[in-house]
Amino acid sequence: LGLGGLARKAGLKYFGTAIDNVVLDNTQYTSIAFDRSEFNQVTASNGQKWVHIEPKRGVFNYTLGDEIVDPSKDAGQIRRCHTFLWHNQLPKWLTSGNWTKTTLLNVLENHIKHEADYYWGDCYAWDVVNEAFNDNGTYRSDIWLDTIGPEYIEHAFRFARKYTSPGTKLYYNDYGIERVNSKSLAVQALIKDFQKRKVPIDGVGLQSHFTVSRAPLYTDVRAAQQLFTSLGLETALTELDVRLDLPDDAHKTATQAKIYADSVRACVDEKKCVGVTVWDFWDPVSWVPETFAGEGNACLLDAKFNRKPAYYAVADVLTRG
Ligand code: G3I
Repeated sequence: LGLGGLARKAGLKYFGTAIDNVVLDNTQYTSIAFDRSEFNQVTASNGQKWVHIEPKRGVFNYTLGDEIVDPSKDAGQIRRCHTFLWHNQLPKWLTSGNWTKTTLLNVLENHIKHEADYYWGDCYAWDVVNEAFNDNGTYRSDIWLDTIGPEYIEHAFRFARKYTSPGTKLYYNDYGIERVNSKSLAVQALIKDFQKRKVPIDGVGLQSHFTVSRAPLYTDVRAAQQLFTSLGLETALTELDVRLDLPDDAHKTATQAKIYADSVRACVDEKKCVGVTVWDFWDPVSWVPETFAGEGNACLLDAKFNRKPAYYAVADVLTRG
């Protein structure tokens, strides 16, 4: 069995991966990415983001999303869909527009309406809002906050509930919330407020972009999830990867394997954690080297598609707990 098959035996719904459009012409890659025994869930790394889906106002183009969604449906995989609202990867017409609160809310509703309708029934979950908080727990200043105010978040969730198929899980997704800290507590406060006022939300995605030199402990990730599961929400590790300072060595690789294993165990042991998604499984297409100079090798498989110690450590956790 691959990781997806093992995950189901371990009681998770899925073990999945992000997939980027730029690598779809590599058949060695796609034969693994769209193998539901290895990964029974996929997320489009970029293909369902605003810049690609609505490149001109009111003009929708689902090509890049479909390039991931269609083969994953054929393969019998489930999908986490990512993402309706983010501060990043927005089209120029949107970021340079001269909006009022009302016109920007109309733009947001129209976007969610079209994309939710197009992917009706295709998504186990939608990341409705991505990365709305700063590390200190304040709201991130971006076009949404600055034009609409913090209530843009609940509007997005209400639109998502209105336009997605019944049963679609609506998630808040962020990084740096894998410990109890100012940011994860702010997310918890948001959820409590939502629940008081009947704003729909079903889950929290802990992105889990970790580094070998500093990663939360198993107990941290458990405690962070409990902030949300204690309120009745489900959780998922949505973008797990563990980067290191290059060059690689045996010690770093072993530490990386332990961090992967502890992270996956923190989901397996949490009843309301539904699954784990790695933010790509193949080192050459990871987002890390482009963003952090001198860092990389964050994935489960190396450049030659060899399984690294991290792969075996994850398989072992899913097999033995
Ligand atoms: O679209 C162009 C393409 O035309 C060109 O050929 C190619 C050549 O480099 O670049 C393409 O754009 C890149 C895009 O990824 C598609 O590969 C952008 O330059 C690049 O900035 C973009 O990076 C993505 C990043 O989000 C943007 O911030 C990463 O792939 C993607 O993995 C990353 O994902 C985010 C999650 O959505 C949210 N959480 C953090 C995570 C990592 O940053």
